[in-house]
Amino acid sequence: MLEFRNVTKRFETPGGQEVTVLQDVSFTVDDDEFCVVVGPSGCGKSTLLNLALGLVPISEGEIVHDGKRVESIVSSDVGYITQDANLLPWSTVLENIMSPLEIRGVPKTERRATAREWAEAVGLGKFVDYYPGQLSGGMQKRCSIARTMVYDPAMIYMDEPFGPLDAITRTILQETLLNLWQTRRKTILFITHDLVEAIALGDTVVVINGQPGTVKARIPIPLSRPREIRHLAASTEFVELHTKIWSYLEPGVESNAGELV
Ligand SMILES: Nc1ncnc2c1ncn2[C@@H]1O[C@H](COP(=O)(O)OP(=O)(O)O)[C@@H](O)[C@H]1O
Ligand SMILES: [Mg+2]
Repeated sequence: MLEFRNVTKRFETPGGQEVTVLQDVSFTVDDDEFCVVVGPSGCGKSTLLNLALGLVPISEGEIVHDGKRVESIVSSDVGYITQDANLLPWSTVLENIMSPLEIRGVPKTERRATAREWAEAVGLGKFVDYYPGQLSGGMQKRCSIARTMVYDPAMIYMDEPFGPLDAITRTILQETLLNLWQTRRKTILFITHDLVEAIALGDTVVVINGQPGTVKARIPIPLSRPREIRHLAASTEFVELHTKIWSYLEPGVESNAGELV
């Protein structure tokens, strides 16, 4: 579905110098895979997504999405969920969820029915007439997930979507996301700096570290599904994965090519 081939990204700093943010990044995200990229702040994670979405030009290497080389903005059949819920403030929950269908020319009665189903699926069935300002942060996030799922993109990019939420709300939303993903398979590339979140969600965790950011490891997560995220941290398997992945997140970790798949 998605392949990064020796991707390097350089930016020009405000002082006019060049800085390399990502170096030689290669990994593949398979169809229907839940792939999580984890790394500390500043290692180039958001840049990586922006490159894959074609929002920012690649300096070297290439990204292939669905058999096509990414050269301009990828808008068809992808969803993009960021930290901000990005809801339309003057539209209700139902209208927000319906809006992508309107753009796609879906007839009004069908849009309403589909949006209502998605409002239910994310737990907002009782709040369809609320405005974003009347929702909690977690509910706003539910709304933005529904607004993405409603048009059924094959690939969803998520950039630290649960970052600003409290730990309890975040865990509940992670479980909601996994349940949705398990019933309506999608390819997901999920970015986080939170190692627990990465292990809890992913089929695979790609560790990026350093400046410039490079791929330190690509680690399969063999934890069985469905996963009860709230109880995961107590399992021995989880603790072992956590310890292992942490070793790649230590500052100054150089190369661990042995882990690369
Ligand atoms: N448009 C830009 N121009 C110059 N530098 C940038 C630009 N965008 C990001 N950077 C730099 O790239 C580095 C990685 O940023 P980012 O991808 O946002 O990291 P992360 O998401 O992992 O925290 C940072 O040092 C940041 O300053
Ligand atoms: Mg970021």
